[in-house]
Amino acid sequence: MPTKLKPAANSATPDLLLSMDRNLALEVVRVTESAALAASLHVGRGDEKAADQAAVDAMRTVLNSLSIDGRVVIGEGERDEAPMLYIGERVGTGHGPKIDIALDPLEGTTICATGGMNSLAVIAMTEEGGFLNAPDTYMQKIAIGPGYDPDFLDMNEPADDFVRRLARAKGARPEQLMICILDRPRHADLIAKVRAAGARITLIQDGDVSGVIATAEEHSAIDAYMGTGGAPEGVLAAAALQCTGGQMLGRLVFRNDGEKARAERMGITDFGRVYTHDDMAYGPNVMFAATGVTDGAMLKGVRRYVGGATTHSIIMRSKTGTIRRIEATHNFSKKPQE
Ligand code: FBP
Repeated sequence: MPTKLKPAANSATPDLLLSMDRNLALEVVRVTESAALAASLHVGRGDEKAADQAAVDAMRTVLNSLSIDGRVVIGEGERDEAPMLYIGERVGTGHGPKIDIALDPLEGTTICATGGMNSLAVIAMTEEGGFLNAPDTYMQKIAIGPGYDPDFLDMNEPADDFVRRLARAKGARPEQLMICILDRPRHADLIAKVRAAGARITLIQDGDVSGVIATAEEHSAIDAYMGTGGAPEGVLAAAALQCTGGQMLGRLVFRNDGEKARAERMGITDFGRVYTHDDMAYGPNVMFAATGVTDGAMLKGVRRYVGGATTHSIIMRSKTGTIRRIEATHNFSKKPQE
């Protein structure tokens, strides 16, 4: 059984942490709003780099105004390849509780650049030591929403058997299930097995953080997420599931020795380990926030008009399970856009 990650001792008192947690949950939405607003100027313009850079710059600026002693655990990459929001970068004012941060200023850069569905600005926070230091490799993932036995998922189960078992657990027929899978050639076998079992499939072009979260959304049509995507995105999705309920397993997938070396540098020694969502995002104070850049099932994208814009965000806290949706109107004549 994998040992759970435990948060290190935090310098803030419990009271301070509690109020910080409440207030921070509302402050944090400004971080994702700013990234989404900046990225929205690049929707459909075909320049992934420019879109990502705009989101990174904006997110970092607002993040640095928060009263936290923050450390980026999941970020834009290792220090030598990412000048900003790199893994290990200290963010915030430096005054306040020690917080670990997982972020993706623009989840779905290609979607944004092509004007597709489901690109988001995303951030998650927890106490120091609560996130898996996931390397920038692939991760095989499987996720379902709340309401199942705690150990329902089995990473080694063939996909067709899983689909039939899931259907039985729901009291449904496999044809009534909808499985979300990234549309990639590497998933040909997985897709064939899911179809053979009779389930329906939503193939998404990008953005598996939303794909995983959709399994836990009350009115979503998605019953399970399956397949291989980014490991950092796995940690972000696990943070959201900590708040919404649901289960997820992930196993790192390495394409070469360089990726294994990268993982080792992050303290990973058991390359075949199966991580639960608790292993990936641990702690009673996990927070997750996202703002839509382009329209998606979970969030509307940024709407721009002369002099302003509206944003749609979601903020969740694991401690209370509260999920807030915030629609914000931004008036650029009073506050010029970041
Ligand atoms: P980016 O935001 O980095 O573009 O990631 C988008 C994404 O679709 C993730 O949601 C997913 O985990 C990953 O890429 C899949 O990787 P690949 O495109 O290499 O299959």
